[in-house]
Amino acid sequence: MTDKHYYLTTPIYYVNDVPHIGHAYTTLACDVLARFKRLDGYRVHFLTGTDEHGQKVEKSAADAGMDPQAFTDKVSQNFRDLAKIMGFSNDDFIRTTEPRHISATQAIWRKLKENGHIYLGKYAGWYAVRDEAFYAEDELTKNADGTRTAPSGAEVEWVEEPSYFFDLSKWQDRLLAFYEANPDFIAPNSRRNEVISFVKGGLHDLSVSRTSFKWGVPVPDDPDHIMYVWLDALTNYATAVGYPDVDSEAFTTWWPADLHMVGKDILRFHAVYWPAFLMGADIAPPKRVFAHGWWTNEGRKISKSVGNIIDPIAIVEKYGLDQVRYFLMREVPFGNDGDFRHDAVIGRMNSDLANDLGNLAQRVLSMVNKNCDAKVPDPGEFGPDSGIAVYNVLLGAQALRDRVRDHMDRQAFHDALEEIWRVVRDANRCVDEDAPWALRKTDPEKMATVLYVLAETIRHLAIILQPFMPDSCGKMLDQLGVAAEARGFDDLTNPLTPGTALPKPIGVFPRLVEEAAE
Ligand code: MSP
Repeated sequence: MTDKHYYLTTPIYYVNDVPHIGHAYTTLACDVLARFKRLDGYRVHFLTGTDEHGQKVEKSAADAGMDPQAFTDKVSQNFRDLAKIMGFSNDDFIRTTEPRHISATQAIWRKLKENGHIYLGKYAGWYAVRDEAFYAEDELTKNADGTRTAPSGAEVEWVEEPSYFFDLSKWQDRLLAFYEANPDFIAPNSRRNEVISFVKGGLHDLSVSRTSFKWGVPVPDDPDHIMYVWLDALTNYATAVGYPDVDSEAFTTWWPADLHMVGKDILRFHAVYWPAFLMGADIAPPKRVFAHGWWTNEGRKISKSVGNIIDPIAIVEKYGLDQVRYFLMREVPFGNDGDFRHDAVIGRMNSDLANDLGNLAQRVLSMVNKNCDAKVPDPGEFGPDSGIAVYNVLLGAQALRDRVRDHMDRQAFHDALEEIWRVVRDANRCVDEDAPWALRKTDPEKMATVLYVLAETIRHLAIILQPFMPDSCGKMLDQLGVAAEARGFDDLTNPLTPGTALPKPIGVFPRLVEEAAE
């Protein structure tokens, strides 16, 4: 068994809401990376789940007239359904209401307490239920009607109650030293700078328990207090790999996590509070936190009150799963904000997928089918001196794995796709140059070489693209006669076997005609 392993996580989603494009996006990015790592020979543990405690969920359950547990059971299921529809390959799905998590959360609390990082006091300050976050007066905007809003736009309320505190104010130097020693811990770099200046600005002790509601994990030995939902939620990443059993095989294998993928709105919790909690509990911090951007809908902020939420299931039904997966990973440099526009989805489907990749596969496979007796052609000897343009394209395809790996390790999904498409476009250009159709009568051997090299190029492309579009690439590889167990990155060096019988080619990427013509 390989000793290369990779543990990556999505945020756990609040169950106050139905899943929308933002949730699908974070998990999709992790899914693409998890699939890439598996193909690249890693043992992968890919975790997602739902965040089920706290005042926000308690309130949503009450609004729905339901008991919180029954409510969370129902809404959590929506996220599992979404994972299925989007083809997510998560290895585990954690719910914070599970017994394994409740005991892990109480264990981390005990450890923090034992290590002297938690003390009892009284909280008096502002709290935004929507963000489940405390805010200082100077962070808020005062509205004309006397209410105040957090930078996120959430309304805050005044809270005054007994509370346990975590001694965050003492962590400033240790956190800054940690960021300094681990320059890749926070990405992208602009976000890293934001976090560093936030920490440099000074940290306040953090209220980590509440007494004014009940829906949460009880504080050990003081059940009037419920643990702050973020301490509870962040701990899920450790629970899922066996915490508090730090000597277990699971924990020693997977911890520290290689990557926590999060949206930019929740970076502070992951890059400031979480490493401090972990170090305070004698646990190593994760290796990296990547904060991605937010999607808007046709230029407008997505919000339940505006009623413009994008339902990922509806867009998958409309455009197809791989089309949506491709669009979301390609359209926006990962880390930046992006605008979801239907005409942009259609544009990508028609140009990148149907015209570039689909057309390349379809015309090469059709020519093989017609002119090579529906078998992988015999290329004969070929090399740089064969006088065929596509030879260089194959060299480009063979170099892709290493190049794409570098992009994936930076979570630069868009760069990975751009790199792959350079080869796709080169291949299309060189088919025209080598014009195998014209060689059928004049030089059938050269035609066979050109078509073989093109088919090999397509095999490389389809293998490398599997993490992004698993289903469509599977179909392309079927049509090339590549066995299901010969599709890993190690198999890239096993070329197609001449003479292998091939099925009749069927186009994998349809054009979307009606709406594009509108
Ligand atoms: N429960 C917390 C996370 C706890 S992790 C220990 C939470 N949940 S959430 O359901 O509100 O949000 C989950 C993720 O969805 C966040 O990473 C957030 O950035 C992402 N998105 C929510 N709306 C989004 C967009 N419009 N666009 C992209 N991602 C967005 O926060």
